Amino acid sequence: MTRYAQIVGWGMYVPSKVLTNDDLAGMVDTSDNWIRERTGIVERRIAAPNETTATMAIRAAQAALQVANADPARLDLIIVATATPDYLFPATACLVQDALGATRAGAFDLSAGCTGFVYGLVVGSQMIISGAYNQVLVIGAETLSRIINWTDRNTCVLFGDGAGAVLLQASDVPGGVLSAVLGADGSGGDLLVLPAGGSRHPASVETVAQNMHYIHMNGPEVFRFATQVTARAARQALAEAGLHLEDISLFISHQANGRIIQSAAKSLKLPPEKVFVNLDRYGNTSSASVPIALCEAIEQGRVKRGDYLVMVGFGAGLTWAAVVVKWGVPLPVSRPLRRIVVWRWVRYRWATIRSYLRRLGWKILAALRGLFIGDSSSG
Ligand code: UT7
Repeated sequence: MTRYAQIVGWGMYVPSKVLTNDDLAGMVDTSDNWIRERTGIVERRIAAPNETTATMAIRAAQAALQVANADPARLDLIIVATATPDYLFPATACLVQDALGATRAGAFDLSAGCTGFVYGLVVGSQMIISGAYNQVLVIGAETLSRIINWTDRNTCVLFGDGAGAVLLQASDVPGGVLSAVLGADGSGGDLLVLPAGGSRHPASVETVAQNMHYIHMNGPEVFRFATQVTARAARQALAEAGLHLEDISLFISHQANGRIIQSAAKSLKLPPEKVFVNLDRYGNTSSASVPIALCEAIEQGRVKRGDYLVMVGFGAGLTWAAVVVKWGVPLPVSRPLRRIVVWRWVRYRWATIRSYLRRLGWKILAALRGLFIGDSSSG
């Protein structure tokens, strides 16, 4: 039996704090007019101090599981695509696994810059198509506000925070993720980079003084790269799926710059109604942008069963990726019954208690070992 990887759940989360172009004009030498004209961005969301990539990823994941009415304990794998993990390790995906009570799931982070979510869709769907797994949660989540130099007008006007998630499920109904294009060109790595904090430039007083823990980007070069790869990757993914430009129902590109999206749409000969844009309200949320756009497209009734969606990502690496998805779930989905919502709430509270007890268990065991066996590392 041929297996397919269908998207059966989706969810998003954005912080409530809105930062407008006018707010930014009070912080750096810029203007609402310049930002709108050169990028298409009007406002973006900024995480509250108690919010992180993991907390936003968890909210998006819970929403996706709710739509699919899926049990977190049955998840096989959790992939979090992010350039702004809570820690270098443990993986943010493990924090999500713990919070969801996804006791059977493997979990890892995926680093492919803004392309991360589309890379994750490819990895997750292949895990399902191969027969290895039945349910994979793919999340794109970012807290870019924590790595932005708020005095650099070249970058600080572009980015925002948020998270989006999809649940992929094995199915024998033809459709789901039909084709995949992955690309990379590491020679362009310096064009979009967070220079310090890794093994090349570990954190030091000097790296902090030289602003090396912030995003550094050669905007015009990345712009040129993005306009070249976006339409090309979309075409390749379509060809691989045996489809044509006319078959595209909705084009969901990484939301980095309205001019990049328009250029790709023109090359693909797509009318505006087949191109989804929401970067005016969120800015560039890196790996979260495509899943957030997908959620809003569904919310706005722009996706229906049988549609062919083309999703494209591009960004740091340099990387790019494209997939064609044949939408398989009837829309709109009905609201979950109240008792299911309550049951789910109880499940997540239990996951929190379980996590606390397990953390306590690790501490008690370590203390007992120290007491009865002594410190083995000293031998
Ligand atoms: O998600 C990862 C992928 N990232 C991207 O796709 C970003 C791709 N790049 C871009 O979207 C665009 O290159 C930017 C929006 C970043 C910049 O737009 P641009 O049209 O390429 O502008 P530029 O960098 O060539 O700068 C043009 C002028 C410069 O002034 P001078 O040298 O001509 O006097 C900049 O200093 O605009 C100036 N400038 C600004 N002015 C007002 C740059 N940023 C700003 C600003 N406000 N925020």
